[in-house]
Amino acid sequence: SQTSSSSPPSSSRPPVSHFIGKKDDIVKAGRMTTMVNGCRDILVLYHQGQLHAMDMRCYHSGGALQYGDIEELNGRLCIVCPWHKYKITLAEGEGLYQAVDDPTAKPLRKYWRSKGVRQRIHNVTEVNGNVYVTLNDSNEAIESDVYQTERYRTGLLKA
Ligand code: FES
Repeated sequence: SQTSSSSPPSSSRPPVSHFIGKKDDIVKAGRMTTMVNGCRDILVLYHQGQLHAMDMRCYHSGGALQYGDIEELNGRLCIVCPWHKYKITLAEGEGLYQAVDDPTAKPLRKYWRSKGVRQRIHNVTEVNGNVYVTLNDSNEAIESDVYQTERYRTGLLKA
């Protein structure tokens, strides 16, 4: 029979790194997707000498970010979702959009603005050619979490 659990709350547990692959393979492919810890679908990207990891499905409507182009917008590297072209910064997971300060001005002047963090970014590290992902388990809800639930996954499988 089960005794009462003594695990501390997740915030005080040391973060766990999950081996996801060889750096050489990820560099060659440029990107890979994998399920981490049996619960989260992650996209890992290698771009301009840097590894990035984030939730695989776009916060807007679950789009397949692994097929998105990478663009530099306003000096920030973004993945552009192939479904409706939402732009997400690789480093922070912020949703970027273009705003206009004066709609009557000619020519229109557009600015890049941030909606804040919408996509959950995870920590990715490399040790001796092996790449590890540590899930970002902050309790704060992030919009992309919606597409990581069992219910969503099961729905996808049935669809
Ligand atoms: Fe990504 Fe709509 S699902 S932009």
